Amino acid sequence: MGYYYQDSSLFCEGLKVKDIIERVGQTPFYLYSAGQITANYRAYSESLVGIPSVISYAVKANGNLKILKLLRSLGSWVTLASGNELKLALEAGFEPEQAILNGNGKTLEELRLVIELGAIVNVDSEFDLIHIQRVAGELNTRAKVLIRVNPDIDPEVHPYISTGLLSSKFGVAVNEAVEMVKSLAGMQSVQLLGVHCHLGSNLNNIAVYQRALTVLIELFQIAKEVSDRVRYINLGGGWGIDYHHDNVKVPSPQELIQSIRWMIPKDVTLILEPGRSIVGNAGVLVCRVIGVKDRGDRRFIVVDGSMAELIRPSLYGAYHKAGFVEEVNRDPVRYDIVGPVCESADFLGKDRLLPPPNEGAGVAIFDAGAYGYVMSSNYNGRASPAEYLVYGDQLFQIRKREGFEDHLRLFDEREIL
Ligand code: LLP
Repeated sequence: MGYYYQDSSLFCEGLKVKDIIERVGQTPFYLYSAGQITANYRAYSESLVGIPSVISYAVKANGNLKILKLLRSLGSWVTLASGNELKLALEAGFEPEQAILNGNGKTLEELRLVIELGAIVNVDSEFDLIHIQRVAGELNTRAKVLIRVNPDIDPEVHPYISTGLLSSKFGVAVNEAVEMVKSLAGMQSVQLLGVHCHLGSNLNNIAVYQRALTVLIELFQIAKEVSDRVRYINLGGGWGIDYHHDNVKVPSPQELIQSIRWMIPKDVTLILEPGRSIVGNAGVLVCRVIGVKDRGDRRFIVVDGSMAELIRPSLYGAYHKAGFVEEVNRDPVRYDIVGPVCESADFLGKDRLLPPPNEGAGVAIFDAGAYGYVMSSNYNGRASPAEYLVYGDQLFQIRKREGFEDHLRLFDEREIL
């Protein structure tokens, strides 16, 4: 729907990506389809009909202001990983009451901001709860909290994006969570609203969600005895997407929701915190071929995008499908797609069967809408890329490319008094 080939040209909604490259001039850049983001959001909202529920988009996946505004217009809440993400969400028009701050190391400053404004806070540890109490006490208010439980369930994903096991740094163990819930009875500074867990990211195993939900429901029942304001079960985010495009079926969010619907008690409002499955397949990193290097035993397509713009392949060994913006009619050869960064870990794809391209050919790295731009860096002096959003046949620039002056601005020398 967002991206498709027609007559050998890659389209983003109604626009040819080749024409977009010509119009904007400079590669690499991120390109997003507003229609695809909307369809992904609706896949959740339509499947949740009949279940009291909240979709709370995880801003960490893609924090572009325009994309946040789009999701707000669709009815989303936001799940945040920092105080700055809260400021961004407010800028996008979200109400603080539609925001949930998560994190294992929230600073007192972040807590002050969030609690003062009335957003929900996920309690990650005993010290976190003490900090929350302290800040709420100072502000003479009641902090609204969910307890983040670590259910000790293996989500069977890359260890860097797995959070459901006790060996991870997140959440409190189930028995500690029970004690914590009980300790909140009658507490002045903290109001318990529910329970939370997040198992990890890029999952597609429905059974592990069912197991986590079982743990959360038990804890929810205990929490109900402590406070009559308890109403939320927050099952976190983590639903995976089809990075491989290879006919191996990845269950959809609809299938996930269908399979847990029967388990949800009547008095529960379910929160889901999807990030990747909302924006992932809506974005591509668009690059151009700088040159092709043939060493006989190994061949490289060198593009102008790199690990600085998209670090997922280097960091997690993640697979992103790559294709030419205009299909090339030559016999395919095995290539590594690499960037110009001075680092052997700088690759966007390995062992890809692709036809030999001409210099300047446009290349799309697919499914880069989540954890792409947000994880980019200035390594090797590279500028953060521009971002563009397509609505039908209209193209909008939604973030400028970073200029050299932007770099220099932060080098302002000042005397420390
Ligand atoms: N809720 C919480 C508490 C989270 O920690 C996360 C992601 C989400 C929701 C959203 O998860 P999603 O639906 O996007 O999977 N950089 C990694 C992913 C890290 C995800 C961290 N937590 C990657 O590129 O794969």
